Amino acid sequence: MQAKVSELSTMYWRKGELIWDDYMRHSEYLLTPESEYVLYWFRAWRELDSIAVHGNKYLGITAQLLKNGLLIVKQSSEEAHEEKVKSAWEIWGNAASSFHFASRVNSNNVFLSLDENVIKKKEKILGSPQPPPFKEYLDCDLIPILECDEPLLQSCTLLQALENRKSVRQFSDESLSLSKLGKILTLSGGIKKIENDLAGGVAIFKNSPSAGACSPFEIYVYANRVDTLSPGLYHYAPHRNGLEFLDSSFSFNLHNLGGQPWLVECAALILFTAIIERSQWHYETCRAYRDLLIGLGHLSQTLQLVVSAIGCASVFATAVCDEEIEQLIGLNGGEILLGTTAIGNPLKQ
Ligand SMILES: Cc1cc2nc3c(=O)[nH]c(=O)nc-3n(C[C@H](O)[C@H](O)[C@H](O)COP(=O)(O)O)c2cc1C
Repeated sequence: MQAKVSELSTMYWRKGELIWDDYMRHSEYLLTPESEYVLYWFRAWRELDSIAVHGNKYLGITAQLLKNGLLIVKQSSEEAHEEKVKSAWEIWGNAASSFHFASRVNSNNVFLSLDENVIKKKEKILGSPQPPPFKEYLDCDLIPILECDEPLLQSCTLLQALENRKSVRQFSDESLSLSKLGKILTLSGGIKKIENDLAGGVAIFKNSPSAGACSPFEIYVYANRVDTLSPGLYHYAPHRNGLEFLDSSFSFNLHNLGGQPWLVECAALILFTAIIERSQWHYETCRAYRDLLIGLGHLSQTLQLVVSAIGCASVFATAVCDEEIEQLIGLNGGEILLGTTAIGNPLKQ
């Protein structure tokens, strides 16, 4: 019988220990130098008992690795499954498949009841305080968001907003009014209600759903042509109903924005980030990262619908240089850029 190391897995170092991560089964194994050697020995198909040349104790280790799926047998159902998965995911590489399967809920998962969830959350609240739901820059000037009496917004139906929404990559030179920008921000990122949930955690409700109502998102605005706003970088503070003016010397170059001129030339560029500890406090598995991406999809679609309803134009974009933008905004690893939306007035027909 021939065996080989399973390739649906990753290895990494944790506190001086080498860990084998079987992301398909959600199992981790601590590797000893001997088990590591056995895996190396079976890097290609080999007779199972060939390992005996290194001593009988290696036969026992091999059997253990086989039992736990670190080794697979040639022409077994495991091999067939592995080949299928590998060929489906090959193009995106190991990082995409390992994240997908590590964050996939498997059939042996035990779901907690509502009561059990409340108890767990209460214990959590006692053990570690919930991260603040809002970021604020109290040392910066706050520009209040003005009322917007745009008549179009009153008359536009949801169906019309949906029908009119499309990605626009050319904007007029006209400035965007601060009141329209403010309305776009409040209707997409503004707070509808703050509640304590059943366990006593703070839940933030907005016009878009967010997993656990933990509202992990922050919104920054690069104002290029916004009436009455000095050009520069702002942070939207929904709980203060204003824009915090962060940096007037700030500007993006084409590389920062993925070589996409419409992101540089728009009237205002919205930058969506997420503070991951807000989600991590609620959800301790990597599946929550999926929820961040899905949540941003909801938020950005809401924003685009408001833009459409208010008679402006926009395009959502992710093909930008995340690292450079994160550095420019001054984010640390705990707050990550997820996407951008360029907004402006449409070109006159
Ligand atoms: C996740 C995501 C990423 C996108 N990234 C970009 C981008 O980097 N640049 C761009 O110009 N458009 C981007 N778009 C916009 C799509 O190209 C656009 O939605 C698609 O062509 C369909 O056109 P429509 O929005 O007019 O219906 C993105 C859209 C989504 C949902």
